[in-house]
Amino acid sequence: MNDRLPAIGCTPSDICTPFLLLDLDRFEANIRTMAAACADRGVQWRPHSKCHKSPVIARRLLNAGASGITCATLREAEIMADAGIRNLLIANMIAGPAKVARLIPLAARSDLIVCVDHPDQARPLSAALAAAGASVRVLVEIEIGMNRVGIVPDENAVRLARLVHDLPGLELAGLMAYEGHLLTVPDADRKKCEITAALDRVLKLKSRLLDAGLPCPVVSCGGTGSYPITLQQPGITEIQAGGAIFMDAFYEQACHIDSLQHALTLQTTVVSLPTGDRAIIDAGHKSMNITIHMPYVRDRPDLSVAWLSAEHGALTRTQDADGLFIGQRLELIPGYGDLTNVLHPCFYGFRNGRLEEIIPIVR
Ligand SMILES: Cc1ncc(COP(=O)(O)O)c(C=O)c1O
Repeated sequence: MNDRLPAIGCTPSDICTPFLLLDLDRFEANIRTMAAACADRGVQWRPHSKCHKSPVIARRLLNAGASGITCATLREAEIMADAGIRNLLIANMIAGPAKVARLIPLAARSDLIVCVDHPDQARPLSAALAAAGASVRVLVEIEIGMNRVGIVPDENAVRLARLVHDLPGLELAGLMAYEGHLLTVPDADRKKCEITAALDRVLKLKSRLLDAGLPCPVVSCGGTGSYPITLQQPGITEIQAGGAIFMDAFYEQACHIDSLQHALTLQTTVVSLPTGDRAIIDAGHKSMNITIHMPYVRDRPDLSVAWLSAEHGALTRTQDADGLFIGQRLELIPGYGDLTNVLHPCFYGFRNGRLEEIIPIVR
């Protein structure tokens, strides 16, 4: 954290840019929207924490009705457990002796769920947990078209589920899948059909597990870019959508999510106006990530982010762009907030134009 922290009660213009401004009213409205959408469908909300890496925020989500927290890494889960948060899903594979060894103390102090898609993750985990007298719940991760991790939902998946069920130290909790490859299908009807078909493969596998006498209380999937559709699928028990609490340009422009408000902005300053068609801001690659989606300048359709260097951002100005001056503040809506937030030490939480709290991002 910065040792020159601004005073609570100050205004955004008192803080040096670039920094992440969290509009607390909008943030809380997004949390209410997500909690209510899940509650309406009788589905649990286990928001992904990779977009905030903040135990303070995770605790707030649990207080607002989230059933548990999703993490992308062992480290993220440890950070949550350090803050006393117990109900944790690591939506990722734990592989290799170093990670297996590190998981054991985490399992002992939390109610942990991990994923497997192969016996070679399950067996070492089982051996280490059983030797330590500990256990974890396990979801078998299913491949539904993303071509990332996951076992194809056929007979081998049933065999893997049975192995998990039988191994000491492991408790078969159900299935997980992520429909991440379908978030940006442009046509709304096609998106719905494709997500429904992809998740149907998981739900059919669930039926096979139940027919085989195996338990499957949990079916976990869903991201911010798909949650309105995923929530409609009968049989899904929990949704992992996390970035929804901030809402960024990717979810809005590429995934066409319109139920959430932009709560998070990157505050920047115009530092130079070298030509009539270019403005330079003080935020570059070290303040924002543009790989998944481009950020945009809020309320300035006459400006667009053209390219970045480490600590400079180049904006293209249209002919009629005016009213720009050196020293002017511009607010950017992050492209994919998840990858941008980790470049910062904290969120500055504002309400009614005043700094109310500083929320650390823990890495
Ligand atoms: C396993 C998993 N679940 C859910 C998500 C969705 O996260 P978010 O809603 O923050 O976009 C992701 C995103 O990468 C993911 O990898």
